[in-house]
Amino acid sequence: MKGTVPATVILGAQWGDEGKGKAIDQLASRYGWAVRFQGGNNAGHTIVIGDTTLKLHQIPSGLPTPHCNLVLGDGMVIDPWVLEKELDAWNALTGEKPEGSRLFISERASIILPFHRLYDSADKVVGTTGRGIGPAYRDRIERVGIRFADIEGLLENSQSISASASRMSSQLAAIGIDHRISAQDLENDLRWILDRYGDAIAPTGHMLDIALRNGEQVLLEGAQGAMLDIDQGTYPFVTSSVTSRANASHGAGIHPGHIGPCLGVTKAYTTRVGNGPFPTEIPSEDPSGQHLAKVGHEFGTTTGRPRRTGWLDIPALMEAHRVNGFSGLVLTKLDVLAGLDEIKICIGYELDGRPITMLPVRAEDVARCIPVYETHPGFEAISEDEWLAMAQKSHEEKSWLEALPDAAASIVTRIEELSGIEVQCVGIGPDRRSTLSKPGGMFDHPLNLGNF
Ligand code: IMP
Repeated sequence: MKGTVPATVILGAQWGDEGKGKAIDQLASRYGWAVRFQGGNNAGHTIVIGDTTLKLHQIPSGLPTPHCNLVLGDGMVIDPWVLEKELDAWNALTGEKPEGSRLFISERASIILPFHRLYDSADKVVGTTGRGIGPAYRDRIERVGIRFADIEGLLENSQSISASASRMSSQLAAIGIDHRISAQDLENDLRWILDRYGDAIAPTGHMLDIALRNGEQVLLEGAQGAMLDIDQGTYPFVTSSVTSRANASHGAGIHPGHIGPCLGVTKAYTTRVGNGPFPTEIPSEDPSGQHLAKVGHEFGTTTGRPRRTGWLDIPALMEAHRVNGFSGLVLTKLDVLAGLDEIKICIGYELDGRPITMLPVRAEDVARCIPVYETHPGFEAISEDEWLAMAQKSHEEKSWLEALPDAAASIVTRIEELSGIEVQCVGIGPDRRSTLSKPGGMFDHPLNLGNF
């Protein structure tokens, strides 16, 4: 048996949508396994390879890397119907059917059923994605949820199916949703899920444990972001899972001793979807916010909702670092700042007339924080192709920030200074190749179009 190699964790360091999909895709060629360990199809990971844009919601972003095994881990809630759409889209593109051969669904993962989607549609407070995530986790905590491992047993127990269906119907009725779930509907759904995914449902925690002990490389990919963590985020405006490094092992079904480096992904600015406090938000009428939204294409991958935009928030990033202990930062979408006259970075807040540098715990207080900014000179807009050429030249010459316009390079250096976290790579365009990688760092390997 070979020696153990620690697993790498990659997480969103903000409120989600940081560009994790692209970063994970770039790392995946070095890994034998890519694992989702929490969340469900509330995530939307976009990967752009040449003219092809892939939008993944539940399948790990290692999908385009042919030798990479893919795990939908124990800690996830999975919508089997959405998964089928993702798999069909991949099959139409490449002819591959990875389920059961290199894509595995944990038998411990919970199933999102039509009931959960309906229940979530009643949310009026948080601004959820409406995908049934919270209700599916709620059922899990109440110990009435259905896991992939439970389907076969349930199909042999019509009383249990009837009891589940009537519980679902009465819970919908209690929140004013007039929709009855019949035992037959539930049974049909479960039978379909088992037929469709039977071969792919597997003891993935054990598989990962064996892989790690055999020296295989494992990448654990977070969804959502640090500030949406149920315990450590801006509660109650958060998602329903632990998005943090601490859950990367637990949600994958391996022990914490397997966990190695942890990369935090942050945009060079901030976005947020849904409700909740956002201290550095730029008012929608302000041209800088409009610039970030337009140039950054800031519309939700999952819901299509316009994202709220704002400046980079260092205290929020430090909160994410406190919880996750990032060993490196992936700075994304630096190119989106091009064309702005000036660029702001929030370095602290004022609350009730007093300076503070830590995000308060109560959402009401976070909402009252007045950001304190430092202002940096902007840099000129250049085209996507020019950014790509800049990245390619930098790879060939093994250079680093010197490839960037001076004002852009100094933003990166300043973020490193303020956060105390080394930047490992800088995203300067949507294409997988539009990235500057720190020479000798984790992202320093050639990137190409692969099979696309
Ligand atoms: P839920 O995860 O659908 O329950 O939504 C809870 C909150 O998390 C809402 O504010 C959503 O907009 C936000 N959220 C959930 N998933 C993502 C994501 O992948 N990116 C950004 N925000 C998300």
